[in-house]
Amino acid sequence: MSEAYVHGYEPRENERLLDQAETLVGLLHNDTAYAAGSVVLEAGCGVGAQTVTLAQRSPGARFTSVDVSAESLAEAKRKADAAGLINVQFQQADIFALPFAPESFDHVFVCFLLEHLPRPVEALVILKRLLRPGGTMTVIEGDHGSTYFHPDSDAAHQAIQCLVKLQKMAGGNALIGRQLYPLMVEAGLERVHVSPRMMYVDSSRPDLVEGLIKKTFTAMIEGVRESAIEAGITDPETFDAGVRDLYRTAEADGVFCYTFFKGVGEKSRRS
Ligand SMILES: C[S@@+](CC[C@H](N)C(=O)[O-])C[C@H]1O[C@@H](n2cnc3c(N)ncnc32)[C@H](O)[C@@H]1O
Repeated sequence: MSEAYVHGYEPRENERLLDQAETLVGLLHNDTAYAAGSVVLEAGCGVGAQTVTLAQRSPGARFTSVDVSAESLAEAKRKADAAGLINVQFQQADIFALPFAPESFDHVFVCFLLEHLPRPVEALVILKRLLRPGGTMTVIEGDHGSTYFHPDSDAAHQAIQCLVKLQKMAGGNALIGRQLYPLMVEAGLERVHVSPRMMYVDSSRPDLVEGLIKKTFTAMIEGVRESAIEAGITDPETFDAGVRDLYRTAEADGVFCYTFFKGVGEKSRRS
């Protein structure tokens, strides 16, 4: 499934993931901190966009961050080294064939990974097996259906739909955020709590206009232009009009909203 990874591994996409992580630090990570001495698995770390925040916020915890892409891992390692992190080790591995013993982690952290997997519950079950009883799993996902904006635009919604369709064709689900609770419960996690994290942006917050509307969301939609046209689900004019309208929401009178979902569940102490 990594071959079908809808966003690809181009440098521009890597930059987008880093911009996204910087913009979202407070919203997504303010309530994640791991105790000193705990052992944490970050599954699907990509270019390390969340890794640095996680490891800096929990300097006494030890992180193992895995991804299927060697290229992304090399970038993640460069980023961790540049930040002077000494509590992270990176390892190339597929979520569905992880080289770790059962119950070897206190916590598992997953961000923007399930949306790309054809079998998300199976992935959660595999990851849960690696948790010690009483250990926690944190899962963060977006949901592109949660996007609304001013000025509203059919073309912009259609452009977003192109990504939703392409991701579905690749076996993923760009609307997975709303399903986090049932997925985590189905995987057998207990005390599951999901909180929506809504990003509201208007021009009084130029950093978010730049970081979220332009560099994160619209850049992500723009990134699937060629694939969407090739797949015959849009034409260049309609798609470009949609992207233009998304950028339009970044102007002085524009407003943009998107909701992320963060779920935390526990592995039963009885298992
Ligand atoms: C959208 S990126 C998210 C990266 C990072 N968690 C973040 O929040 O920036 C998804 C990552 O999942 C990885 N991935 C996809 N399928 C995988 C699998 N089966 N095993 C391990 N990693 C996988 C991709 O290589 C990619 O780096």
